Amino acid sequence: MFASPVAQSTKTRRRRLILLLAVCSLGPTLPAQPAPPEDRVHALLSRMTLEEKIGQLVQYSSRSDMTGPASSAALAPLIRAGGVGSLLNIIGAAETRKWQRLAVESSRFHLPLLFGLDVVHGYRTIFPIPLATAASWDLARIEAAERIAAAEAAAAGINWTFAPMVDIARDPRWGRISEGAGEDPFLGSAVARARVIGFQGDGRFATPESILACAKHFAAYGAVQAGRDYFTTDVTERTLREVYLPPFRAAVEAGVGTIMAAFNDLDGTPCTANAFLLDRVLRREWGFRGFVVSDWAAIEELRAHGTAADLRDAARQAVVAGLDMDMESEAYGPHLAELVRSGAVPEARIEAAAGAILVAKFRLGLVDDPYRYCDEAREKTAWLRPESLAAARDLARRSCVLLKNNGALPMKRDGITVALVGPLADSPQQQLGAWSGQSHREDTVTIRSALAEFFPGTRLRYAPGCTVRGSDTSGFKAARDAAAGADVIVAALGEEADQSGEATSRTSLDLSGPQLALLRELRATGKPVILLLLTGRPLTIEPAEPLADAILLAWHPGTMGGPAIADVLTGAYNPSGHLPVTWPRNVGQIPIFYAHKNSGRPAPHVGEPEDRYYSHYIDAPNTPLYSFGFGLSYTTFAFEGVRLNSPVLRADGAPLVVTVRVSNTGSRSGETVVQLYVRDRVGSVTRPVRELKGFAKIALNVGESREIEFKLTPNDLAFWRADMTFGPEPGQFDLFIGGDSTATLSTSFTFETTPRN
Ligand code: NOJ
Repeated sequence: MFASPVAQSTKTRRRRLILLLAVCSLGPTLPAQPAPPEDRVHALLSRMTLEEKIGQLVQYSSRSDMTGPASSAALAPLIRAGGVGSLLNIIGAAETRKWQRLAVESSRFHLPLLFGLDVVHGYRTIFPIPLATAASWDLARIEAAERIAAAEAAAAGINWTFAPMVDIARDPRWGRISEGAGEDPFLGSAVARARVIGFQGDGRFATPESILACAKHFAAYGAVQAGRDYFTTDVTERTLREVYLPPFRAAVEAGVGTIMAAFNDLDGTPCTANAFLLDRVLRREWGFRGFVVSDWAAIEELRAHGTAADLRDAARQAVVAGLDMDMESEAYGPHLAELVRSGAVPEARIEAAAGAILVAKFRLGLVDDPYRYCDEAREKTAWLRPESLAAARDLARRSCVLLKNNGALPMKRDGITVALVGPLADSPQQQLGAWSGQSHREDTVTIRSALAEFFPGTRLRYAPGCTVRGSDTSGFKAARDAAAGADVIVAALGEEADQSGEATSRTSLDLSGPQLALLRELRATGKPVILLLLTGRPLTIEPAEPLADAILLAWHPGTMGGPAIADVLTGAYNPSGHLPVTWPRNVGQIPIFYAHKNSGRPAPHVGEPEDRYYSHYIDAPNTPLYSFGFGLSYTTFAFEGVRLNSPVLRADGAPLVVTVRVSNTGSRSGETVVQLYVRDRVGSVTRPVRELKGFAKIALNVGESREIEFKLTPNDLAFWRADMTFGPEPGQFDLFIGGDSTATLSTSFTFETTPRN
């Protein structure tokens, strides 16, 4: 099917020459520098047929191999005819090279393909899930992790990741909460920026180690009703703009090359064909110049949504609304040409879409060097480098959140025997979490193997106890026996990898299967119990909480999860993670998040007479089990002396400088996340009780104090006002600083729009 390597290289040289002649203006001399991508694309488009332009808008998934099953055979002729712009789920330098060769050798303009893949938290070196890394609040390390993920994926021929997922999620029933940065738009925006820059570098793709990023899912996918994946969303434009859109905007400002439209409908219009989102907000308001890809088969799904009667009309709606690339719907390829010829779709729209996709290919350097991402030699050395594994271990321990500690942690290293119990203690696949398909089981270091280094021989007693799902309790006895001979019990419980991620909505967030019963058995031994939670989302652990002396949340920590957890349990690393999402007591409280509105009947202050006619439940408190921003350490921190450089922030004045003294008051060095929240006391519309407006992760030695400074500008106070203009309103603001969203250290200031004389 393919030409011999010698023939190919001759052909490749000829192809490059032809291409150069085709895309550079055909003047008497060639320019020394290639023209800007936009100019080259312009020249190219003017020579392409309508069908060839439409071909750029088409994306197919791997059908295993071209010489494989019958369905795969269809791709090769399509590619040869210039009918495919991108493939997804094809991996490996050799495999991508094979497909790339087919495209560039046989299509008329020799245009390369984009190879897309969900590189969500690492390629071969799997980092903790994104929700976990958000708990680190460590933007530099998050960015560095994506740089490693990009380099590993790039070596396998991937030049485009479907990440970062920047959906704000306030409903842990939704399994995809694991893929984002949690509930808060301020933190979510900061993380989105870091992740885009991590994947794309400076956006010039000078070396084939950065790849195109894709902010997804645009928009409000995290707001699906009842937390049910793929379901409908119906949020107000104000909530959309204040809560769900900011991380996308941050991604666009960071230069993200592509955006993926969400599956859900929003206020009655599916995002796939939503001109308000794709055209007005994304392109006109934010100036986005990249391209928008659909989610998987989402154009076709317009029929199920009930807004398109057939695939032809679905294609029309999507492309007219601003959706550029069709992922696996087979809608654009068969229908767009006829739609243009019948006048239903302007050809200019196809040109704009094809142009944006081609610009991305030029920017990635693929047009000039189609194989720059398919390098078998690099592939062999790019994966699982020692420094990548060290970064994964470091980020995994920084993502751990200590939720409870009555002194059981850190564990003593000498002279004790540890019972390691639980179905997730020695489970390489499960600790990786969702979207870790390229990892290999043998790369993963489990908790059991890592703890065995600290507690060799018989000092580590292991028993799984039970499975994560099901009802078999026959392993309890072995677990009790392991515990009986130990000084301390570590119980690794939680979720398996496929209990969170896509299509994993849950109506119960309790520890599944017999896990809670196992914990009760362990408690009954009278030994100290450390509950180690491995999960992709908040779980409702209120019943488990009193059974544990300490609770360490490790999320799904990835390839190096074992050593990272061992570092934290033994005190080699002092935990510094803080929750990026509220942990409810029970599912009835959901959605529960810190930046809620006050209501007209807020909960009465403690000490006020009992009154039932206020906003509350009669069977549970309003408060969560663990608040947004919360996280303990093996040391303690004090926040004191908050001061402002002025009691007034003026619209046209200098920023307000907020200073707070943070001290390490415990007996170990450690890190904390200093968090600044603001409350707008009176607005033209109701405002959240507090909103995160700044944070700083800092390290302090024992006894050390440091002044931390934040700057607030009028833009930090801006919101979508009653008349739907964006800006701040004059008045009084409260400010809170501390280690979580319930911080009590506070002061207040006034914002003035007109300067005093
Ligand atoms: C569907 C998912 O919603 C999306 O996040 C992913 O990128 C695509 N499938 C491609 O795998």
